[in-house]
Amino acid sequence: MGFKVLLLGLLCVLFASHIYVSIPGNIEERWKVMALDAVAKTCTFVALCFENIGIMSYEEFISMIFRLDYTQPLSDEYISVTDTAFNDIPIRLYLPKRKSETPRRAVIYIHGGAFHFGSFKQKAFDFLNRWTANKLDAVVVGLDYRLAPQYRFPAQFEDSFTAIKFFLQDKILTKYGVDPTRICISGDSSGSTLAAAVTQQVQSDLEIKHKIKIQALLYPYLQLIDSYLPSHQEYEHGIVLTRDIAIKLMSLYLTEDEAFPQAMRKNQHMPLESRHLFKFVNWSTLLPKKYRKDHAYTEPILGRLSYSLPALMDIRLSPLLADDSQLQNLPLTYILTCEYDILRDDGLMYVSRLQNVGVQVVHDHIEDGIHAALSYMTAPLYLNLGLRIRDMYVNWLDKNL
Ligand SMILES: *[C@@H]1O[C@H](CO)[C@@H](O)[C@H](O)[C@H]1NC(C)=O
Repeated sequence: MGFKVLLLGLLCVLFASHIYVSIPGNIEERWKVMALDAVAKTCTFVALCFENIGIMSYEEFISMIFRLDYTQPLSDEYISVTDTAFNDIPIRLYLPKRKSETPRRAVIYIHGGAFHFGSFKQKAFDFLNRWTANKLDAVVVGLDYRLAPQYRFPAQFEDSFTAIKFFLQDKILTKYGVDPTRICISGDSSGSTLAAAVTQQVQSDLEIKHKIKIQALLYPYLQLIDSYLPSHQEYEHGIVLTRDIAIKLMSLYLTEDEAFPQAMRKNQHMPLESRHLFKFVNWSTLLPKKYRKDHAYTEPILGRLSYSLPALMDIRLSPLLADDSQLQNLPLTYILTCEYDILRDDGLMYVSRLQNVGVQVVHDHIEDGIHAALSYMTAPLYLNLGLRIRDMYVNWLDKNL
């Protein structure tokens, strides 16, 4: 008992010490956001303490917290929900119960979680996918993939691609009553890295007959080669996701070598032979003036690491590295960016790259948005912001799919 009280007391002190971050003035529900951020930073702090003492790794602690939020597949009056697998990749399938005269639209949703955490089972994603199925009268597929650091890149891409390729077969689409010309791939955060990478691959894969009609990328993470974009600088200590944690997790996604995150913090992690790729993420040409005007462009220093990871030059890791001819095949794209997000500029640059090659893009920038807002749509951690983003996304799908 005494120990529990002590522990609770300690957590309260930690929480209190994290609550006085400055929350920008235009953010709605300031106190809630402040509390959310304090919860996230307290968890990070405790996880890092446990890691330093040797109790468990940072990622193990955070995954434990994520798993507390997992739901069972629950059917309701309108939607039948089942957990099953596509070619051994776990999925949660949402099928409208109402009879339909015509084949339905389909949305494949890939969840975020920095490649380390989460599942379609999370309350917020289960809620979003059920909501989408209901509003659109569509078949929705929530997709899981193996998680880092136990499985590193490209396991996450491979699982997503395998499941989606399986789904796109005639016999499977027919089985679920899906119209092959009306399929969308969506994802948030690292899930949208996978969504963007799989969409690129599907559109150019000659073996796949049915292509994607639209893609939706919600506060996407799209490149790992420049770790010093204006948004990385402005929101280094940002709400919910900080630069340090992003670098820690992105490094673990690739390698356990500790020299790597150190190099990445200094933006010196890329090999010499990657010079030609920087034009694809050159923010001094790709960002709208408003976002670059307060920053001076410096080229990253190459070749400082004693080894090079081939993965770093892989478009499945950084979809922004696809060249113009690869981007040209992409379908109508929805990109949603949040202002207060270290990943803001990834999304903004993809908008420019796609527009430059004539791909149709619809871009919503949420001036008071924070990273991972869609994860805060269900009690006790719900934000109006999450619901607003849900509605923008789902309304766009409804009009365009
Ligand atoms: C980035 O763009 C600037 C012009 O805005 C140019 O001077 C620089 O050489 C470019 N760097 C790369 C690597 O493309």
